[in-house]
Amino acid sequence: MELHVRGWHVLLSLVLVQWARQCLCIAVKFPSDLPLSVALGRTLVLEAQIDKGPEETVSVRWSIKQGSKTYRFPNQENAKLTVDNFSKAGNYTITVMDKSGKEVSASRFVRESEVAPRVSIPLLCEVSNDSEQWDTPKFMWLANGVDTTANLSADGKMLYPSGACVHNYTCIVNSSLGTSSTHYLNTGCGTNTDDQTWNGGCTVIVWVLLVLLLAAVAAIIFCILKIRKLQRKPKIAAVPQTEMQLMPKERQTIQ
Ligand SMILES: *[C@@H]1O[C@H](CO)[C@@H](O)[C@H](O)[C@H]1NC(C)=O
Ligand SMILES: *[C@@H]1O[C@H](CO)[C@@H](O)[C@H](O)[C@H]1NC(C)=O
Ligand SMILES: *[C@@H]1O[C@H](CO)[C@@H](O)[C@H](O)[C@H]1NC(C)=O
Ligand SMILES: *[C@@H]1O[C@H](CO)[C@@H](O)[C@H](O)[C@H]1NC(C)=O
Ligand SMILES: *[C@@H]1O[C@H](CO)[C@@H](O)[C@H](O)[C@H]1NC(C)=O
Ligand SMILES: *[C@@H]1O[C@H](CO)[C@@H](O)[C@H](O)[C@H]1NC(C)=O
Repeated sequence: MELHVRGWHVLLSLVLVQWARQCLCIAVKFPSDLPLSVALGRTLVLEAQIDKGPEETVSVRWSIKQGSKTYRFPNQENAKLTVDNFSKAGNYTITVMDKSGKEVSASRFVRESEVAPRVSIPLLCEVSNDSEQWDTPKFMWLANGVDTTANLSADGKMLYPSGACVHNYTCIVNSSLGTSSTHYLNTGCGTNTDDQTWNGGCTVIVWVLLVLLLAAVAAIIFCILKIRKLQRKPKIAAVPQTEMQLMPKERQTIQ
């Protein structure tokens, strides 16, 4: 009976060891599955994580799938792929093979970045931190006196100006220590809007002058046509003139 149980134990252990040996598996993955963006002509670096036993030796190959075609990257045998002068968007795949010929792979989509990232110079609102307080200060921003919550950093300390020009930014800090505020006046902005209104005035003046000029030209053309018409009138009136000349003759004969 004891022997029988021992036999079962041995068998179970053997199965477990066999299973464990099979499962000294290799694995590969990317730190993120999100598509990676790279601008044309820049360098693409793609790094995968290979999980394997310390004694395991593996071979690595990289390929890219575009539509139905697959291209292999020569001389890229590490977990890190480097492609100079990026030009091929697509599905980049790393394939890892262990000594026994077992393969695992992982893919990451790399797309072409068409616009460079937006940049802005943020305004930073800082508050002095000289005494212990139980709460954390709350930051509020006003743009030209109006509450604004758009384009702030998560902690509310930074504001990223964008869009319309704002002359007056106000930062209000409120906490158990009290409320304080400060203003940032954007002087460059004021002259710009002044220029714009001045330009607006200029274009209106130019248009008015143009209309006046056109009216004057039209009036002159009208006058010239009228004068020509008047100069032509006597020629047409020549027939009645001869009749008038006949009249005295008739009168003479009557007399
Ligand atoms: C990058 O690749 C493009 C075409 O794919 C080529 O016209 C250009 O000369 C390459 N630039 C460099 C620096 O290799
Ligand atoms: C990339 O390839 C992997 C593995 O073949 C596949 O699961 C995935 O859907 C592909 N992604 C795209 C965007 O083609
Ligand atoms: C204030 O300063 C102390 C130490 O100087 C720091 O531990 C604490 O986090 C600071 N508080 C804030 C709100 O910055
Ligand atoms: C800026 O705005 C704040 C809040 O509306 C106001 O108290 C302050 O007087 C303004 N400053 C200027 C120079 O307009
Ligand atoms: C926030 O930023 C967006 C674009 O970056 C801009 O269109 C919008 O006007 C900004 N809002 C404010 C209140 O500055
Ligand atoms: C500051 O915080 C206190 C308490 O939370 C609140 O009563 C007060 O209205 C706040 N002040 C401002 C200007 O938001």
